[in-house]
Amino acid sequence: MYDLKGKTAIVTGSGRTKGIGEAIVMKLAEEGCNVVITDIGTTKGEQFSEEHVGTTDEMEAIVAEAKKKGGDAIAIPCDVRFEAQVKNLVQKAKEHFGRVDIMVNNAGVGYIMEPFTEFKEESWDAVLDVNLKGAFLCSKHAAIHMIEQGTGGAIVNIASQAAKSGFPFAAAYTSSKHGMVGLTRSNAVELGKFKIRVNAVCPNHITTGLGHWQNKFFSEKMGLDYEDYLQGIVDRNPMGRTGQVNDIANAVAFLVSDKASYITGEAMNVSGGEEYH
Ligand SMILES: NC(=O)c1ccc[n+]([C@@H]2O[C@H](COP(=O)([O-])OP(=O)(O)OC[C@H]3O[C@@H](n4cnc5c(N)ncnc54)[C@H](O)[C@@H]3O)[C@@H](O)[C@H]2O)c1
Repeated sequence: MYDLKGKTAIVTGSGRTKGIGEAIVMKLAEEGCNVVITDIGTTKGEQFSEEHVGTTDEMEAIVAEAKKKGGDAIAIPCDVRFEAQVKNLVQKAKEHFGRVDIMVNNAGVGYIMEPFTEFKEESWDAVLDVNLKGAFLCSKHAAIHMIEQGTGGAIVNIASQAAKSGFPFAAAYTSSKHGMVGLTRSNAVELGKFKIRVNAVCPNHITTGLGHWQNKFFSEKMGLDYEDYLQGIVDRNPMGRTGQVNDIANAVAFLVSDKASYITGEAMNVSGGEEYH
């Protein structure tokens, strides 16, 4: 439908089973795109524990699945907080596939939530470093290659409803996601002359591993049963359901395709009508 044959995409944070990144990888692969599955790969202390991160084993399983869909796929571990690793990621992707056309900044930390007056400096840094600095570094190195190639490109930042509205206990997450929209707009204006389009997608609630963790966290805070909390989300939503990973993957496939060639600098809500500004 979107014909991405011959293109190469890097999708960060795509090494976690049932995550949004995995769904984006599968959709782009179905459209004929070669995909680089990249994730942190290993646990790193309490902030990046097994419960939350995509491991190298999961990454390899996703590579195998993506190869069945159409395009080729490889896994390259990368911690997006560090420029040397990001530079290496983009370089290796280019060496392997010969080009880099699409960068999807999906890696995110949405499970570090604390009351604002108790918010720890290291918690703030961890969230901002992955969500915002990571997107900055990956966009920068992808753009360098896209400009060298001279054939344009597309960058999509997976922001959030928290890029448009505030949420309790989530000062760092909300700030980082609002920041991603600023990064999107600034880069869209600056990189347009190289035919590089930059957009953001803003999902509301998607029941991935992270989404489940957030439901549990908020239902406990509100003293509600998990199922009742989830039903509340469904009842508030004009489309009467929570978001699914494919809702986001479809939006990304459209935005990176030529069908969206006049769309840049947008922060597109994919929220069933729950968020509309
Ligand atoms: N699930 C939702 O309800 C929801 C809603 C809005 C936005 N989002 C955003 O969508 C994106 C994907 O979320 P998800 O629900 O699939 O969560 P997820 O936890 O399944 O995916 C996040 C991925 O980011 C990776 N990651 C974390 N730190 C990293 C680092 N330093 N370097 C590289 N990778 C790192 C994790 O290993 C994980 O694979 C995130 O940016 C999240 O903020 C999710």
